[in-house]
This record gives sequence, structure tokens and C-alpha cells, in this order.
Amino acid sequence: MEHQTDRTGRPGDGRKVRKVEVVNDKKYQNLDKAKLLDKIDDDIQELNLLKSKLRRLEENKFQMQERIKILDSEEKKAESSNTSDNETPSPADWKDNTHTQIIKASESRQYRQYELAFDRVKLFYKEQHQKQTVAYNIQARINFKSKIRDRMTVWEALMKLNKLLDESDPDTELSQIDHSLQTAEAIRKDGKPRWFQLVGLIHDLGKLLYFYDSQGQWDVVGDTFPVGCKFSKKIIYHEYFRDNPDSKNPLYRTKYGIYTPHCGLDNVMLSWGHDEYMYHLAKEQTTLPPEGLAMIRYHSFYPWHSEGAYKYLMDEKDKELLECVQAFNPYDLYSKSDIRYDIEELKPYYLELIDEFFPNKIVEF
Ligand SMILES: [Fe+2]
Ligand SMILES: [Fe+2]
Repeated sequence: MEHQTDRTGRPGDGRKVRKVEVVNDKKYQNLDKAKLLDKIDDDIQELNLLKSKLRRLEENKFQMQERIKILDSEEKKAESSNTSDNETPSPADWKDNTHTQIIKASESRQYRQYELAFDRVKLFYKEQHQKQTVAYNIQARINFKSKIRDRMTVWEALMKLNKLLDESDPDTELSQIDHSLQTAEAIRKDGKPRWFQLVGLIHDLGKLLYFYDSQGQWDVVGDTFPVGCKFSKKIIYHEYFRDNPDSKNPLYRTKYGIYTPHCGLDNVMLSWGHDEYMYHLAKEQTTLPPEGLAMIRYHSFYPWHSEGAYKYLMDEKDKELLECVQAFNPYDLYSKSDIRYDIEELKPYYLELIDEFFPNKIVEF
């Protein structure tokens, strides 16, 4: 079926309109493989969670050492002046932040079979690092712009993603809608703005891509990174980039590659996946502020938001956006819990929230 519309032209607006394919709601091939997508995504999140915990422990250790140094020097001062301390500051003071409850919930989480999970994650990244090239990226962007895959409301899209992944994996403990609602509710409970809550709800909606024209899991989920310049050693399983043809390209293998110093991440092509897909969709069809769009676009860009890589590509604006993405990350990572929200009960609230930021009820996917 063909429609005389595309993402940029509207019938009757006087502009040139292209013929674009509307991919029908088709019989999602690879439905059985959706189970794998779900597991891989879970495992990747698990790994990121562990890395983040490790980082926190290291920070903790550093803070404790610093605190001990201060206490030691205060003790010495007190001894020498022969006066007594009124009160000793608690070593846990620094922990005081708005995410305490969420983090506590995640700490009680039972981790699953690491080795099996990590094998799966390794295999996933081996393929992802090999296949995410500049050439593939450009092709994926062209595909995105030249097709409308579906037309539906955001709520229908959430249900569709949920149903498909559920159908393929009846044993999944946490479904997509559970994760979306847990993220959004955690943000809402911390009293964050409404646009922030909506980001929580829709940040993973781009996984619908898997059921349209992705080539596997490697171009839907996983940590993201820039293509067209040197792959940072801070990217997980960096060694697998040896199989990526871009690693041998004389231009792409240089520090800046096709970019210029501090050109701004807006001008950088990030590896293609659910983040990039949903970002472009949201940029065109929502009134979300730049901070919210950045949270969607960069939420899997762990080498940047958690490891400090690619600072040399950032412009001034990105410094602020980095803080926003870092503010979102704990909600994505730590909000997973056994709490199952009643979808029907929350539906009216979120329908209103969606309407607030999506001017058109029917969204083009
Ligand atoms: Fe995600
Ligand atoms: Fe997520």
C-alpha cells in the first residue's frame, strides 16, 4: 500500500511530495527472536547496572578515604588544642540524593546467571561492533526518512511493543510496559517535570524498530557510540571493533574522523538503534524540550554519559545536555523492581501526558 505522504511533506501543502512505502502491520517475522532481544537488552542493562555499582563503590571508597583524612586531621587538631569535637559528620552524608529509594530497590535485586548472560552480551557486542559502520548508518537513516512503518497512537504503540515481546516470552519477569511505567512513575514520584515523566514512558518505544526493518538485535539495542571517527577504548568490548571495516578506513580511524573538534553531538552520527530512531521521531512529532530529546537520544550512550568519552566532540550546549542525560540514567537503570503498576489505573494520567506533548494523536512510526 502506498501513500502520497512522507515525514516531511503533507498533501496539499504545495511542496513536492514523494511516494513512500507504508510498511504494513505485517506479521512480524522473527517474532520468536523477540525473546532474544528482550533477554539481550536485559543482560546489557544488567551489565551497565553492575558497572554503575562498581563506579559508585569506587566513588564511595574515595569519599570514605577523603573523609577519613579529614577526620584524622580534625582529630589531630583537637588533640593538639586539647578541645573536644561537638559532632562528627556522618560518612554517609554524601549519599543524600533524590534517588535513594530507587537505588535501595535495585540493590536488593537478585542477579541472574552471570556467565550465561555475559556470553550472550559478548556475542551481541561482537556482532554489533562489527556491523555498525558509517555505510550502514547512512542507509538506516535513509530508510527511516523514506518510510512510514505504522500509524497509531503512542498508547497503542506501547501496547503493541508490550504484547509482542510478551507473546514471544511468556516467562519474562518484567515486560516493556512495566519498565516504561516504573521509569515514568519513579520520575513522577521524585516530583520531576511532566516532560521528564513522558521521557520515562517513551524512551524505549523505539524498540518497535525490531518488528519493522531491523537486521537483528544489533541495530536495535545495546550501548551506542559515534561512527565515522575512532572508536573510544571506553566503549564496552572495544576489542571487537577490530572486525569493523571502519577501523581500517584511513579517515574513520582518526580521532576526529569526519568531524571537527567540538562540532557538537548534534552533528555526530551515533550507532543506529532504538534511541536514535525514537529521538528523530520525537524531534519531529513532539513538543518535548531539547533536554528531553537528549535523554531519549543519548540514554544508551554509556561511553559518553558514564565513562567520559568523546568530550572532544562536545560543544557548549552538550555540557548541559550531559547533565540531563545523567539525571535520567538512574531512573532507567534503577527503577526496575517487582512493583507492577496497574496499567488501567495509570492509563488516564499518561494519556493526558501524551496528549500534552504529542500535538497529533496519530503518530507516524
Ligand atoms: Fe533503552
Ligand atoms: Fe530503558
